[in-house]
Amino acid sequence: MIKILKRMGRLEWLLMLCSILLVFGQVYMDMRIPDYMSRITKLVNTEGSLVSDIWDAGLRMLLCAVISMCISFCSGYVSSMLAATFSRNLRSKVFSAVEGFSLEEIDRFSTASLITRSTNDVTQLQNFISRGFTMIVRAPISITVALSKIHGKHWQWSTLTCGAVVLVLCAVVFVMKYAHPRFRRMQFLTDDLNRAMRENLTGIRVVRAYNAEEYQEKKFSNANDILTDNHMKAQRAMSVMHPTMRFANNGLTIGIYLIGAFIIAQTPNYSDALDTFSEMVVFSNYASRILFAFMSLNMIFNMLPRAQVSAERINAVLDTKASIVDGPQEKGLEGQEGTIEFKNVSFRYPGAEGMILQDISFTAKKGETVAFIGATGSGKSTLVNLVPRFYDATEGQILVDGRDVKEYTQTALRGLIGYAPQRAVLFTGTVTSNVTYGAGGGANPENTEEEIRKAVEIAQAREFVEKMPGGYDADISRGGTNVSGGQKQRLSIARAVYRRPEIYIFDDTFSALDYKTDRVLRARLKAETAGVTTLLVAQRIGTIRDADKIIVLDEGKIVGMGRHEELMKTCEVYQEIAYTQLSEEELA
Ligand SMILES: Nc1ncnc2c1ncn2[C@@H]1O[C@H](COP(=O)(O)OP(=O)(O)O)[C@@H](O)[C@H]1O
Ligand SMILES: [Mg+2]
Repeated sequence: MIKILKRMGRLEWLLMLCSILLVFGQVYMDMRIPDYMSRITKLVNTEGSLVSDIWDAGLRMLLCAVISMCISFCSGYVSSMLAATFSRNLRSKVFSAVEGFSLEEIDRFSTASLITRSTNDVTQLQNFISRGFTMIVRAPISITVALSKIHGKHWQWSTLTCGAVVLVLCAVVFVMKYAHPRFRRMQFLTDDLNRAMRENLTGIRVVRAYNAEEYQEKKFSNANDILTDNHMKAQRAMSVMHPTMRFANNGLTIGIYLIGAFIIAQTPNYSDALDTFSEMVVFSNYASRILFAFMSLNMIFNMLPRAQVSAERINAVLDTKASIVDGPQEKGLEGQEGTIEFKNVSFRYPGAEGMILQDISFTAKKGETVAFIGATGSGKSTLVNLVPRFYDATEGQILVDGRDVKEYTQTALRGLIGYAPQRAVLFTGTVTSNVTYGAGGGANPENTEEEIRKAVEIAQAREFVEKMPGGYDADISRGGTNVSGGQKQRLSIARAVYRRPEIYIFDDTFSALDYKTDRVLRARLKAETAGVTTLLVAQRIGTIRDADKIIVLDEGKIVGMGRHEELMKTCEVYQEIAYTQLSEEELA
């Protein structure tokens, strides 16, 4: 908690100070009210006192109340402002921390949890700061001031007040033991609920197609029920609080008056009795305040641990160092542009057991096309994802432009690459915003329009883009759900082409295209972007047979490397793939 507060900026500290001062002011004003009450009771019961004196005391009392109200208003305003500013800054800190994460860290936290951490957990802290913080400051001040005011009055009253406080504390302890752990569990259960909801929404098509609504519903209502049950139990325990508080407070008032009545009955002197009476009124007022301050401890003890859990969860994100860090270099070696070299690279996913890639070595010269083929799960995507450093190789070295990828800044390295992932990703926006997405690369910002058209044309997307309402400014909905899978892939390719990179990485990008488009697209790419080195993952022999080098992967190992004709003679795995796809004539 303290650690997270240390992340506050100067403005926030200033607001916090303001808020503390306001609380002091408010308590001061509140605590003066009973004094005036006492004076008024005395005046009323004293013979010969003037109405104007009562008016005077009454008006002062009213003034105190009004000032206290104003301060309370300001204090609420300041603490909400503090909470809102703090949580805004925290959210953006979490966001930029997550942006800096490599896939390893994201896998470790899980997407659902990262989302709850940057939303729900931040809100939790915001609530705590806007409400709990002033309470934490107010309770001890109120208790101290009130105690000092009633100190040394009749011992019977003090004993009774102690009794009431003990009763309230018992309730607080009970609630702390029984309800608070449940409140704390709530955060983790919310993670679960979030996960269930996400899965349902992202997989909605499959859910519908397999009539699995009921199954999904069960999964969701499971998570929902657990959360509800937890909440109910927590609330049930909490419900003890209110009646206990009422009972203690009312009992205390009655008790004080009863005792007061006895004492007064035994006092022979009228003016002494009057003093006792006015003391009684004041005492019962302060005693109530003490009781309420103790009860607010309950709220604090409830909010604090939850805020604590949230703070820890957020701190965990903010303290995580990205495992992939920048090197110092902005450029590759002179004369080695466009080359890629793998030197005995092995790779294991963080936290996984076996090596997914083993001892991979190959080179791609400038302008060459190196193709990867192999069964699903043989490690093709994993291999090409090492080039833009989504993960770092476990062993061995990867050189781009003659330099180890770890020596580059990530921006510089990724600026060299035009990447089209296995699953095309489009962002909310327009065709143009998706094609020109991101920064870096060699795209010419002068004649964007022309470059976009060209990239879209090379990617064979022109025809459908121009048919879309609005053409290049046509809306792309979230996740690109308003274009087909193949169209999505083509826009994803256009994005890579527009960047004018030194290196293309096409991870199975052509599989979603029909044969003809596939062929035309590759021919256009070759003609228009000669000199760009290409790493090409594919399923079809047809897509890769013209490649300068074909690498056959099997269970993470290279089992064949060469041109199509050579592999047809030497590589058994390659032959198998080829025979299942090509007819005899095609092979000949
Ligand atoms: N993020 C990940 N964490 C752990 N294992 C993974 C991850 N991604 C892929 N794998 C494993 O790595 C292997 C190779 O996957 P991948 O490179 O995607 O294969 P391909 O692209 O050849 O189909 C698979 O066995 C898969 O289970
Ligand atoms: Mg793959």
